[in-house]
Amino acid sequence: NKVVLAYSGGLDTSVIVPWLRENYGCDVVCFTADVGQGIQELEGLEAKAKSSGASQLVVRDLKEEFVKDFIFPCLRAGAIYERKYLLGTSMARPVIAKAMVEVAKEVGADAVSHGCTGKGNDQVRFELTFFALNPQLHVVAPWREWDIKGREDAIEYAKKHNVTVPVTKKSIYSRDRNLWHLSHEGDILEDPANEPSKNMYMMSTDPEDAPNKPEYIEVGIVAGLPVSVNGEKLSPATLLARLNEFGGRHGIGRIDMVENRLVGMKSRGVYETPGGTILFAATRELETLTLDRESMQAKDALALKYAELVYAGRWFDPLRESMDAFMEKISENTTGSVVLKLYKGSVNVAGLKSEKSLYRQDISSFETGDIYDQADAKGFIRLYGLPTRVRAMLERGL
Ligand code: ARG
Ligand code: SIN
Repeated sequence: NKVVLAYSGGLDTSVIVPWLRENYGCDVVCFTADVGQGIQELEGLEAKAKSSGASQLVVRDLKEEFVKDFIFPCLRAGAIYERKYLLGTSMARPVIAKAMVEVAKEVGADAVSHGCTGKGNDQVRFELTFFALNPQLHVVAPWREWDIKGREDAIEYAKKHNVTVPVTKKSIYSRDRNLWHLSHEGDILEDPANEPSKNMYMMSTDPEDAPNKPEYIEVGIVAGLPVSVNGEKLSPATLLARLNEFGGRHGIGRIDMVENRLVGMKSRGVYETPGGTILFAATRELETLTLDRESMQAKDALALKYAELVYAGRWFDPLRESMDAFMEKISENTTGSVVLKLYKGSVNVAGLKSEKSLYRQDISSFETGDIYDQADAKGFIRLYGLPTRVRAMLERGL
């Protein structure tokens, strides 16, 4: 028997390799996904995996798939969890787990394993994806089984099994990075009374140190999906990387929040989502031209449910797929361009254009037009306000 392990090359996953061999007597295939986390020493990674005892390392570049098939649908849906979280980690887990199921099939593995703790959301996201895509795979979650309690235990276990302890210095924060975001948890952040330290951030400049001059950028959108920056057509991953540079430079997209994890506890996290924050602003602004009132309300209501599903690891549920069909249809006219002004942590709309705009100056203008007759408003208001009048009459005994 053979297991495919989600592998990063860090201490935890390096220890999981010998642990799986010892406790399950299985052949370990390490799998590393490139989701834009900036894998260091990709060349060294294979040797490292093998020296831990893995039979092979499989690396897949999932960046375009991640952005096109996971991030962009969430963006189009306007999915935000608990008022703030742009779901960076939540969207990455299903694309990684999906690739693991494919690799398991290719190498003939009957099991999959991950290094998530038993206290978090990530274990759920991995495992629900495994269940959805191949319910026959065995799932091994070492953190829920072994006696290794912390870093010291892990180092000791590594030494006992002749695994070279990775030299990469472990940061004091628990971080998760991909093309969309970087999350920070743990250490001083565990007390919500503490402000994050200035040097914790990695994707964005402190807004206080950002340029004193605003920068304007134009984002082109077709059917609710971004396609260009400043007139240049870009692939999904390239476009996002480009916007991360703009947003990062101007200190955009920092979020500090206490959130409700699926497993019940609250946890404090800080997120940097520079490009994503620009994209959310762009699509939301364009929708003010292209969505009618009822459509916008229905879309916003569904967005909450959509975000909840994605957060909870239910990416491959039929409900998420059905909601995407709705989001695709309702966004079909959300096409146009948005000029945004980036300045010291803020992103504001500075210009909107759409050929599908429902906004008509000839109707809205204070200059009189002939489509809207002000005299019509009298009857409209009398009927619209009929319940109000009836109630007031009742209260007064009229
Ligand atoms: N709390 C966020 C989420 O659940 C971020 C989790 C970060 N994951 C990690 N392994 N450090 O989506
Ligand atoms: C973990 O526990 O593995 C990270 C945090 C989370 O999954 O929410």
